[in-house]
Amino acid sequence: MKVWITGGGGFVGSNIVRAALDAGHEVVTTAQSFVAPVDAGYRVESVDMTHPEGVAASVRAFMPDLVIHCAILNDWHRMYADRDLAWACYVGATRATSAAAAEVDAHYVLVSTDWVFDGTQAGADEGTPPNPINLYGALKLASEMVALERGGAVARVSGVNGLHLARPETPRAQDRGFGYFVASIVDALSAGASFTVWEAPEINMVATPSLALECGEIMVAIGEARADGVFHCCGADAVTRRELAFLTCEVFGLDAGLLRFGPPDPESMLGAPVPYNTTLTTPRTDRILGRSATSARQLLERFRMQMSSPEKAVIT
Ligand SMILES: NC(=O)c1ccc[n+]([C@@H]2O[C@H](COP(=O)([O-])OP(=O)(O)OC[C@H]3O[C@@H](n4cnc5c(N)ncnc54)[C@H](OP(=O)(O)O)[C@@H]3O)[C@@H](O)[C@H]2O)c1
Repeated sequence: MKVWITGGGGFVGSNIVRAALDAGHEVVTTAQSFVAPVDAGYRVESVDMTHPEGVAASVRAFMPDLVIHCAILNDWHRMYADRDLAWACYVGATRATSAAAAEVDAHYVLVSTDWVFDGTQAGADEGTPPNPINLYGALKLASEMVALERGGAVARVSGVNGLHLARPETPRAQDRGFGYFVASIVDALSAGASFTVWEAPEINMVATPSLALECGEIMVAIGEARADGVFHCCGADAVTRRELAFLTCEVFGLDAGLLRFGPPDPESMLGAPVPYNTTLTTPRTDRILGRSATSARQLLERFRMQMSSPEKAVIT
């Protein structure tokens, strides 16, 4: 199968590229600033996702069977400062990529988020009506509507942990979501430093963690099955930040005595509400793809194996 992916130079996107290559598919990914290594087993094209003509030309030239749209404007403050740009980068880019996919009869998968929910909808399944409480969630929901109405699939990821396979040197730090949470604990504790697990009502405190590579594998499976509708690409277990921190220590053999608990760094303030409990469940995803969601422990064990095998830590 030929797979065209936006944002393969990003954290989640690089794992989708890896999953597609591992499944034996041919891959083209678009980039804004990312340059692939010379021996990469995939092609990178410089395409601005907000330019429909450029998107369509790249898709037409490759004739993919599957389009996975993952790229976003990942700059919270810029999104709020320039709403037109934000709309173009989310909803406009989803229109452009889904129209290009339709033109060549490629199946379409949009990568989305658990932040389409409001933080009180614990255990939301694929049919739960979203209720975003910030601009990012609203733009993602509008993008989901475009993808679904064009007959595509929406692949929501949540609490994404794992390795950045395109830019392994990317700094990994705790934020108000769950992304990079496990890696930042492992980095600190394995260096003998303490780590303060943030706990506060105004941050994302409970989520259903996932592993980026497994998210990519689920998306590729959705594409192979040409399945449409909403999918939840996450693990099986809802955990608090504290529970995930202790589980990380157990699985990685780290000293839990180095964990501290306290309020978030004020510099991480987003200036907009963040959903508190964004836990997801996966009944439709499991049924349609014939799988069962992976436990948090198993996800962390796989992550530990990835970290200990350097050849798995980059896409080449
Ligand atoms: N990370 C998480 O914890 C998390 C949680 C929930 C959902 N998600 C979803 O996962 C997806 C990827 O997020 P991420 O965290 O992996 O983000 P990321 O690492 O910041 O990657 C974003 C990518 O978008 C590309 N991009 C930005 N502007 C572009 C433009 N105008 N034209 C073309 N490409 C452009 C960038 O390309 P270059 O690299 O070439 O500059 C980058 O590779 C998003 O859809 C996000 O909503 C992520």
